Amino acid sequence: MKLLDGKICAESLVAGIAKRVACYVNSGLRKPHMTVILVGEHAPSESYVKSKIKSCVSAGFESALLRFPESISESDLLANIAEINGNSATDGLIVQLPVPKHINSQNIINAIDPPKDIDGFHPTNFGRMTLGQKAFRPATAYGICKLLQFYEIPVKGKHCVVIGRSNIVGKPISIMLSNDFEIGNATVTLAHIETPRALLLDETRRADIIVVAVGIPGFITEDMVKEGVVMIDVGINRLNNGKLVGDVDFEHVSAKCSWITPVPGGVGRMTVAALMINTLMAYENNLMAYENNLMAYKDNFSLE
Ligand code: GUN
Repeated sequence: MKLLDGKICAESLVAGIAKRVACYVNSGLRKPHMTVILVGEHAPSESYVKSKIKSCVSAGFESALLRFPESISESDLLANIAEINGNSATDGLIVQLPVPKHINSQNIINAIDPPKDIDGFHPTNFGRMTLGQKAFRPATAYGICKLLQFYEIPVKGKHCVVIGRSNIVGKPISIMLSNDFEIGNATVTLAHIETPRALLLDETRRADIIVVAVGIPGFITEDMVKEGVVMIDVGINRLNNGKLVGDVDFEHVSAKCSWITPVPGGVGRMTVAALMINTLMAYENNLMAYENNLMAYKDNFSLE
């Protein structure tokens, strides 16, 4: 069993980004800029946002964290997003999810200007990604692809089982792995909460690659997988004793895996790194728009 080390991979990607940013800055250009909106108090979100801001520093980006109280109305939040959309000093905007229950998260996502939507959650970016067009790709899914690429794990022609159909992880990664992308061309099964247990077991037991994103500690057990499987554990669950664990019973499952992501230090780190790639792309799009007086939304997303 070998570890898919998200820390090493993320640091290598961010170092590459920082080098590219230094070239721009040395030639007199401004730094890339990311704005993060955080609504209310949610301990995991606090920790995710902290690591995103920290990574901006490593990448040579500027960043702004805008905090709003839990009580903010949807219309006030939308007004703030509209203001950031119109501010050419910021390249990328994310609203950390979840937002409080009285706010419709899809309305918030839909309000972000697609060229600033570095999370890749806006229907324009999600649709473009689905159609195989250049787009900001959802960060966790993109991060998983970059991790597979970094460790040269073959994906083409493999049988992948994705468990969990969230818009943030399961749905986009199932599309990306099956699309004709550089890391793609797999045969993908998307299993979810309504998948009968027997069918789930049939699928996981013959999977070459499993991506699990269900938020249940120990969901994947030893009896569910075949020898040599590549295991991508997206879960980040805090146990009552304070320990962070994924969705895989790591202790017993890891021995059967050819590769497995640790938690922490696996997919979580890659989500942040992918967000940095998307921010750099947003920035480069803006530079091209300034220089060529073209529309900011261009088909030049590549850091492959
Ligand atoms: N909450 C959990 N994952 C994410 C993510 O990738 N982006 C945002 N904005 N919120 C999240």
